[in-house]
Amino acid sequence: MVNNRERILIVDDEEMIRWTLNWKLSKEGYSCSEAGNADQALEMLTDHSADLVILDINMPGKSGTELLPAIRTDFPETAVVMASSLNDAGIIIQCIKEGAQDYVCKPFSLGDILLSVDRSLAKSKLETQIWQHYKFTADKPGEQMAEIRGFFFGAVENLVYSLEANDEYMTGHSRRVKDFTLAIGRQLELSSDTLEEMQWAALLHDVGRIAVDPHILNKTDKLTPDEYRHIMSHAVVGPNMARPFISNRVAGIILHHHDHYDGRGIDQLVTGNDIPLGARILSVADAFSAMISDRPYRPAMSAEQALAEIERCTGTQFDPVVAHAFFNTAGFIKLDED
Ligand SMILES: [Fe+2]
Repeated sequence: MVNNRERILIVDDEEMIRWTLNWKLSKEGYSCSEAGNADQALEMLTDHSADLVILDINMPGKSGTELLPAIRTDFPETAVVMASSLNDAGIIIQCIKEGAQDYVCKPFSLGDILLSVDRSLAKSKLETQIWQHYKFTADKPGEQMAEIRGFFFGAVENLVYSLEANDEYMTGHSRRVKDFTLAIGRQLELSSDTLEEMQWAALLHDVGRIAVDPHILNKTDKLTPDEYRHIMSHAVVGPNMARPFISNRVAGIILHHHDHYDGRGIDQLVTGNDIPLGARILSVADAFSAMISDRPYRPAMSAEQALAEIERCTGTQFDPVVAHAFFNTAGFIKLDED
């Protein structure tokens, strides 16, 4: 049950769908209102802001895909979940690119909608928090900034972890990546400033997944090359989302965290030691954490299997110096902290 009565606007031309969603979401504690078309929805948003809009696509008059950019521009703190019978990968990707937090295909179960609403509100909260932090710190002096950044790190950390907690495949991932990254960094005797940068990069390395179509992320079949490229776009989108409050060095680490040491990663521009050291470290930590977790398309590997895989890819995907440092720390890494 939601306690703070987050407001949801349901936009659909079918009265029965509006009524059913209103009934279910109100029962869960949300405060719901309804609009039968795009113009009415814009009027209602202007009068009373909403935390989230559930938006149908095919409606008489303006369609949901036409309304979506207007909502994202005029009401940037309002999350949007598209709900449509159009199950077309091109339309889904377009909606996610235009700023929808999620896309649910009709006919949907009420459980699907509830999950999507929870997840989308958490994503939207994170985006808003990042933006508010930027506005708040823009004119503060250095010492205050350091204190605020420390405080803010904890807040963002909590948001990232709670966002992941809604995803059975990602739960605990960023926490593990942060721990592994710091362990490798200490093994390589990096400075405390560099370790702090690594910590931010590890926490936010996958924040760009917010912009990735969840249907592609959770696909159990083999991905097409286009779908794989779409997923990998999170490394480019992430630094742009977090740019207001991370340094260029942290942005560079996130941007290159899927680069391969031998230059054979997707759309890779730099290779070998030209890849930032932080990205080479994050790459090993991220891969190890992913391998020991279940994924939609495969079960988790054991730690021993994952270590063997890192070893197999050392010198191709992974920097040998970083991989070696990781092997030296692996015996001390706690794997059961979730
Ligand atoms: Fe990633």
